[in-house]
Amino acid sequence: MAVNTECAESQETRVLPLLSPRTRAKHDLSKRNDNIPLFYAEMSGEELDRRITAAREALGERVLILGHHYQRDEIIKYADYRGDSFKLAQLAAARPQADYILFCGVHFMAESADVLSGAHQKVILPNPAAGCSMADMANIAEVEECWQMLEEQLGADAGIIPVTYMNSAANLKAFCGRNGGIVCTSSNAPAVIDWAFKQGKRVLFFPDEHLGRNTGLKYGIPEEQMMVWNPKDPMASDDAEEEVERAKIILWKGHCSTHMRFSVEQIEQARATYPDIKILVHPECRHEVVAAADLYGSTEYIIDQIEKAPTGSKWGVATEINLVHRLAQEHPDQFIFCLDPIVCPCSTMYRIHPAYLAWVLEALLDGEVINQVSVDADTAHWARIALERMLALAK
Ligand code: 13P
Repeated sequence: MAVNTECAESQETRVLPLLSPRTRAKHDLSKRNDNIPLFYAEMSGEELDRRITAAREALGERVLILGHHYQRDEIIKYADYRGDSFKLAQLAAARPQADYILFCGVHFMAESADVLSGAHQKVILPNPAAGCSMADMANIAEVEECWQMLEEQLGADAGIIPVTYMNSAANLKAFCGRNGGIVCTSSNAPAVIDWAFKQGKRVLFFPDEHLGRNTGLKYGIPEEQMMVWNPKDPMASDDAEEEVERAKIILWKGHCSTHMRFSVEQIEQARATYPDIKILVHPECRHEVVAAADLYGSTEYIIDQIEKAPTGSKWGVATEINLVHRLAQEHPDQFIFCLDPIVCPCSTMYRIHPAYLAWVLEALLDGEVINQVSVDADTAHWARIALERMLALAK
């Protein structure tokens, strides 16, 4: 089936940097260099292919390339390993022989890889403009303000455990480490929530409201015991104080723009057209979408379901298009399509282009490290505690 790609991001052919000076200034912990030479930006696909292959061969095991499932095909073909954010974090922690980890994903993933890898290893994000709009929806100042307001109202025995989704800056992971909290990904969120309620009475979950709600409901917390925290106007509602008293989970108001595009109407339409279809969605989708689906889970889970399905299976999938498209190509015996008719790639994942890969790899050959992501020692110490609490849990 032909996949319709009509949104602006899928038409984007630009290689040159998209990062604004304001965003750049926010990430001053990393050595960033967005100025890809025009020479690389204008190179043909064949030439880039040749150069990337040659540079990788020359660097051998000194370089490990990790690719998130949302990366485009032209990038994923170079990945030594592909994975969801959980698997990639595990891999970054378990490959000490590589001097350089080239992370084809987004900034928060590269930061986590830096925190979990050895001191001798350098993590590189080929294009430093590859951020995550959801991760940017929570910052440390707002989270600390929220924490203080909750403690002021609930008192010393509030028993709040902070849980940050992997899609967050390293200083938010460090906040969790310092305050008895933990990190979760979409593949282990239920186990993490279970852990959190064994440590305390309440959970502050950021920055994805939807993953938090879906996981809370699955754990058995009713909707009335979850409140949404809007950092721009936290106590706006008249009964905000009662909501805080009642809340077992405080959900940060943040979302993934790609997953917000999916709706119950799309599911109904798919079922009306193909009565034997199975609907498979990511837990960053709204709750009504998850509730209407047959199955839901992380990108790795989505792949796994399709890989073990029999020939002739039909799937309507709600996640990022590069992954859905690749699944359709890799399983021609099944019928697989994206539920959103105007499919849209994750625009920030899409910023990793082969030109950036060629640029950073050839720089390594010349002994230069470009676009290293490095987390300062104190932040890394506490973020590692929160990440290791997560890695120690079974899924
Ligand atoms: P997973 O790969 O963990 O499912 O998460 C997807 C995602 O949100 C990437 O930003």
